[in-house]
Amino acid sequence: MSSTYFKRFRMDADLAAPRDRGPLPPGYRFVAWNEALLDVHARTKFRAFRAEIDATVFPCLGDLEGCRRLMREIRGKPGFLPAATWLVVRNDAYGDLEWCGTIQGVVDRLGIGSIQNIGVVPDHRGRGLGTSLIEQALLGFRSHGLRRASLEVTASNSRAVRLYHLLGFRKAKTVYKIVDAEPAPVSVEPAGMHLVAEAACL
Ligand SMILES: CC(C)(COP(=O)(O)OP(=O)(O)OC[C@H]1O[C@@H](n2cnc3c(N)ncnc32)[C@H](O)[C@@H]1OP(=O)(O)O)[C@@H](O)C(=O)NCCC(=O)NCCS
Repeated sequence: MSSTYFKRFRMDADLAAPRDRGPLPPGYRFVAWNEALLDVHARTKFRAFRAEIDATVFPCLGDLEGCRRLMREIRGKPGFLPAATWLVVRNDAYGDLEWCGTIQGVVDRLGIGSIQNIGVVPDHRGRGLGTSLIEQALLGFRSHGLRRASLEVTASNSRAVRLYHLLGFRKAKTVYKIVDAEPAPVSVEPAGMHLVAEAACL
């Protein structure tokens, strides 16, 4: 049985630094967390991640039921923070709602604001929605009195790494996520590697 090691960066940002909150482009708006939106987050996450590298690193992201389980897990965390959990929506040409992006935040055990997943569906990328979603989540962390934010990103996801860097995140640690070709109960940690906590994804 073969395993693949995916290099990931843990990146941190100082929330005290002044921030330029990216406005949403015209026609788009934020929708705050409420319990009835859990499935909308899951579906938007699925559409944003299903064709991306992270759906290989965390197979649940490539599966709608997996995204639903993941959303329930995030919602159930003790540090789940509604103020850092947002959707972006717009009305399409027929007036129907078009869910475009999702982000979720939790406060970890060290009191750091942890961005869980950010995803923008393919047709709406490159318009600043990712930037706005991150700034909105960071605002939620700040309003909660937090001083630092963190996230993890797959190293080969250069677009996301570049975006986070532009927004003030800096690499703090390199970690590795093992993906087995078939399910295996035991993972071996190679010398010098830090493995990613499996709790990141079901
Ligand atoms: C990473 C991701 C969230 C970025 O979302 P996005 O909405 O495209 O992000 P932004 O538009 O704010 O910024 C991304 C790029 O668009 C550019 N941009 C920002 N506003 C823009 C605008 N109004 N017009 C054109 N381009 C714009 C940015 O400069 C940036 O350019 P670059 O990537 O060429 O350097 C999105 O690509 C995504 O969902 N990817 C799949 C899921 C994923 O990998 N998530 C991250 C997991 S850690």
